[in-house]
Amino acid sequence: MNIVSNLVTVSLPNYLKSLPVPNSLTDFAKLSVKDWLSLVPFVGTVSLIVYVTSHTFQEKWEQYQGRNRDNLCKVNLSIKKCSDKVVDMVDIEDLGDKVVYCRCWRSATFPFCDGSHAKHNKLTSDNVGPLVLKRRESGQ
Ligand code: FES
Repeated sequence: MNIVSNLVTVSLPNYLKSLPVPNSLTDFAKLSVKDWLSLVPFVGTVSLIVYVTSHTFQEKWEQYQGRNRDNLCKVNLSIKKCSDKVVDMVDIEDLGDKVVYCRCWRSATFPFCDGSHAKHNKLTSDNVGPLVLKRRESGQ
């Protein structure tokens, strides 16, 4: 621990004090080749730290954006993903007395509801449910 303490409190400050850092931009032109060469390790180390830090944060940021984009923008996560557009046609004469269509896009029997919306709602705090088409009973 003493080595680290000495490095931080003595060696590093002494090294930084020894760097030929000019007081103004115009003084950079007055630096000798030896001065420029003594700045190379310092500038290289700072550049590496900045690069690694920014690269790490950039990757994390892109992962975060990608995850949000997938979760927020896509309704259809698994149904007929090879198609450009999911379209289902049903002859109105074949509907029978009652049919229940999925509107959450999680049903294994899509386009019909299989109750998967309940799990989806529980996981996401969403409130989606099916579309129920029901034939009016005669006499109503
Ligand atoms: S399974 Fe999707 S609405 Fe019921």
